[in-house]
Amino acid sequence: MKKVYVGMSADLFHHGHLNIIKEAEKYGNVIVGLLTDAAIASYKRLPLIPYKQRKVIVENIKGVDEVISQESLDYVPNLRKIKPDFVIHGDDWKTGVQRGTRRRVIDALNEWGGKLIEIKYTEGVSSTQLINTLKDKGVTPNVRLKTLKRLLNVKPTLRFLEAHNGLTGLIVEKTKVASEGRQKEFDGIWLSSLTVSTSKGKPDTEVVDFSSRFQTIEEILEVTTKPIIVDGDTGGKTEHFRFRVRTMERLGVSAVIIEDKVGVKRNSLFGTDVVQEQDTIEHFTEKIKAGKRSLVTDDFMIIARVESLILKNGMEDALTRAQAYINAGADGIMIHSKEKDGEEIKEFCHRFGEFEKQVPLVVVPSTFAHMTETELQGLGVNIVIYGNHLVRSAYPSMVKTAESILKHDRCLEASKDYCMPIKEILTLIPEEY
Ligand code: SPV
Ligand code: MG
Repeated sequence: MKKVYVGMSADLFHHGHLNIIKEAEKYGNVIVGLLTDAAIASYKRLPLIPYKQRKVIVENIKGVDEVISQESLDYVPNLRKIKPDFVIHGDDWKTGVQRGTRRRVIDALNEWGGKLIEIKYTEGVSSTQLINTLKDKGVTPNVRLKTLKRLLNVKPTLRFLEAHNGLTGLIVEKTKVASEGRQKEFDGIWLSSLTVSTSKGKPDTEVVDFSSRFQTIEEILEVTTKPIIVDGDTGGKTEHFRFRVRTMERLGVSAVIIEDKVGVKRNSLFGTDVVQEQDTIEHFTEKIKAGKRSLVTDDFMIIARVESLILKNGMEDALTRAQAYINAGADGIMIHSKEKDGEEIKEFCHRFGEFEKQVPLVVVPSTFAHMTETELQGLGVNIVIYGNHLVRSAYPSMVKTAESILKHDRCLEASKDYCMPIKEILTLIPEEY
């Protein structure tokens, strides 16, 4: 019996998949290489249905003889192991992001005289379309809440971008680019205190209180599906923090990050230019513990943010605190720094890597902006947060527009030079879900 290999994700199984399997059956024994959650997440998104469940579904499809895991988007490792006589695939991968994958399949098959058989793509049904339709319907708080931990389990490094209202939430939700055979998008939304304060014309000193912050959270939850990490500033009083954590958990927020400062909070990027006071380890660990105790699920994460490097209290202090916060039950550590060269961050990451108990590590590379995600991944960073870039890019553009109207005594030039067409703004947000 000849061996036939079919690679698939089968996240939402449909008749297009059946057509492929029916065709594959004609050539011999059908082995399905089912992409793992990590393999799918590496090039598009987290699958809706976890691997184990997808495996049971595919195993029970008539015509499938065996299901094995395909650990990467690249077929070649499995192909070399199995040396199938045939690989069957839809002809839709000749162009677009999967082109390179296809080329590698053909080259590998040539090593032992195997053949690629491409069948006509089943029109009118696409997993991506089905999934987008589902995503447009929204997500329940419970499912959204769990997504951050699911993502951390399957991707070495996640990228988050700030949002401070519904519109910017939509930008983080929907922006995609195709690059090197992968579909790149943001994994989630950072609810920055700096940008939400700025967008309200207020300083980043916790003056925008949590009643207002919750309204913004609701606004973003309403129009997005991706996981949300809330910048919880100092967390406020321990007694209040316990309540806030519960509310966030109930809303479907995945994590809060609180920083170990007390008094009137000032933005970290001021560094030592302003007076900022760090909390004691004892007091801050109590806050973490109280927050943890008030949670209902195991899914919500309380991430502790270490400000020692910002306040020039030294690397040893940063490491001591990180260790103490982990021991107190913090589900992750954010290390912040405003040094441009990134050396501080590198040293912290190396030493953090030696801790016995590992928790996800978060950085916000606003000042060490030259560092790539790949580089940060190499240092063991699990979440990269782009903390302020939508506000920082929107503001100069808005000021230019305002100046242009004043200068020209009319809005024609501003419309042409800086604005999207009216037709586009009218249809940017659809009238129906
Ligand atoms: C924020 O985005 O509000 C942050 C990160 O807390 S930073 O502005 O760098 O302090
Ligand atoms: Mg902040």
